Amino acid sequence: MPRPLPDTLLIEWPESQSEPSPLTEQAIDRAVAVLRAEGLVAIPTETVYGLAADALSGPAVEKIFRAKRRPATNPLIVHVADLAMARGLTAGWPLAAEQIATHLWPGPVTIIVPRGPALPDQVLAGGPTVALRCPDHRLTRRLIKKLGRPLAAPSANRSESVSPTSAQHVLASLGNRIDLILDGGACACGIESTVVDCTTDPPQILRPGPLGREALEEVLGRPVKVSGEFDPGNAVKGRAGEKSATARSPGQHSRHYATKTPLELSADSAGRVAGLLQAGQRVGWLSTDSDSVSTRLLAASHNLVVVPMPLEPVFFARQLYAMLHALDQRGLDVIVVDTPPLTEAWRAIHDRLSRAACTAIS
Ligand code: TXA
Ligand code: MG
Repeated sequence: MPRPLPDTLLIEWPESQSEPSPLTEQAIDRAVAVLRAEGLVAIPTETVYGLAADALSGPAVEKIFRAKRRPATNPLIVHVADLAMARGLTAGWPLAAEQIATHLWPGPVTIIVPRGPALPDQVLAGGPTVALRCPDHRLTRRLIKKLGRPLAAPSANRSESVSPTSAQHVLASLGNRIDLILDGGACACGIESTVVDCTTDPPQILRPGPLGREALEEVLGRPVKVSGEFDPGNAVKGRAGEKSATARSPGQHSRHYATKTPLELSADSAGRVAGLLQAGQRVGWLSTDSDSVSTRLLAASHNLVVVPMPLEPVFFARQLYAMLHALDQRGLDVIVVDTPPLTEAWRAIHDRLSRAACTAIS
């Protein structure tokens, strides 16, 4: 039986103010009440929206898996308000964890460390480690502090689909399966956090994200490993890093981040789009070259929706999922995306796009 849609409560905290407004405080209190009653609340973070439950309650955590239709074998990230809360959930705190947490938290980086006894098995999919993250979103940290307990929160979307970067995306994907949505506006990063395994030596990036390899190496003072090589051929085919990442991080299999509309990466996207249009296909095109003559000529076609994308990876990432969600609503036959440059700064975007492309083709 579908449930009624959840309330969506606006939460705001302008930089200029030392405290949030009374209305925002009330919204947080309502979220705390829902979480205490073992309910599900969608929360904003700087990366993507999360689907949160009390991480110390097995039954509450099970509801996340049911709502998302997520396999019980895929562990969740546990969100904390600060370093002290993080350490209380572990049974060992490697030097790399200390370095990342002290220098890069709050921020878009998740660390894998040995689990402590307080966490229920459901959060960790029965494994010996826990993924911890302190989000760079002061309202969400305030929520965790007020609750006084950590929050288990995967991205707030059906398993294997594109993550939400706005409250509207959450409503569209999980609306009748959750209790409350906190709307903190669009997410600043727009893609999921970098996941770093700190139980290995050297530490290893299991999922590339907004915080890049260089920033991590600077803080750690030594090289880190990245699962899967950033091989141009692989990235284009959509299987970059698939094998080794799957072994260590169960969520990093290829069937992920997919639009309903098939998605293709193309190094010659203008040519590919022209071919598809000639074949009578309706095409969406994420183009970093929207001013070019060929793009403008093609855009005259009724069967084409061109979405101009920024050339800077940080801005590209911020818009990527919102644009994919929007194109996915248009009833198109195919989405074509320019293959991004094969440089370190684009690694996380490559990862997400190649997985989206991989799923659509298979
Ligand atoms: O930015 C983010 O990380 C967002 C926001 C909501 O914080 N969360 C997110 O969660 O992306 P999720 O569940 O969609 O992705 C978590 C990833 C999955 O690939 C999962 O397999 C991996 O982290 N993971 C979680 N616990 C792990 C563990 N103990 N060992 C290895 N990988 C783990
Ligand atoms: Mg996810």
